[in-house]
Amino acid sequence: MSQEAWNAVDAFIGGHLLEDDAVLADALKANAAAGLPAIDVSAAHGKMLYLLARMKGAARILEVGTLGGYSTIWLARAVPEGGSVVSLEIDPKHAEVARGNIERAGLSGKVDIRVGAALESLEAMQQRGEAPFDFVFIDADKENNASYVKAALALARPGTAIIVDNVVREGRVADPAETGSMIEGTRRLYEMISAEPRLSATAVQTVGSKGWDGFLLAIVE
Ligand code: SAH
Ligand code: DHB
Ligand code: MG
Repeated sequence: MSQEAWNAVDAFIGGHLLEDDAVLADALKANAAAGLPAIDVSAAHGKMLYLLARMKGAARILEVGTLGGYSTIWLARAVPEGGSVVSLEIDPKHAEVARGNIERAGLSGKVDIRVGAALESLEAMQQRGEAPFDFVFIDADKENNASYVKAALALARPGTAIIVDNVVREGRVADPAETGSMIEGTRRLYEMISAEPRLSATAVQTVGSKGWDGFLLAIVE
């Protein structure tokens, strides 16, 4: 287990399979200049989200946790003409930086960033009877992950894909000695999903430039 080796392999993968991408590089620069934390998905994982959304043929995508819009840009690139990404973000400054990045990416017409606590935005969306989403990416405060999946289910249809980031956290999720609120929120996510017959799920551990972590993948039955 070494971060240097994981970085080297991510560089190898990127060198072969990812294009030089000035738009995404500029987004990360703008995030850093604005003081946003560098907790965006990696390039390899951003492209994985893009590929999963394309494999799903997703036209309507929901994201919980925008930050500077790095993952949002990958997702918005995956949706066809007329498709959209609704991304929920609590911090108005993050949302403002993200809007700039998405504008420069030429994707403003496809992205709707909604500022507010995601649970409240999701509740309002259910009340309004918004159309179901094809693909959901959850990557905000880990304490609320189980609630986000429940809300996503209410905005889903059979076949909707749900992806949750950061579900391994350097293995802490499986270490009973670890008790932080983020880890406990992540464990509640697994418990909620294991008790939910409408979801079929797995989780995939990852290593790379963002360390040892993982994604949970679920499909609505
Ligand atoms: N998906 C982004 C990273 C998101 S980081 C990417 O990969 O590029 C997590 C984001 O969730 C932060 O911007 C944080 O402000 C936001 N967040 C935290 N709590 C939230 C809440 N209750 N509602 C909505 N967003 C929240
Ligand atoms: C954190 C959040 C993330 O979404 C992430 O990818 C990495 C770290 C965090 O809050 O520490
Ligand atoms: Mg994350």
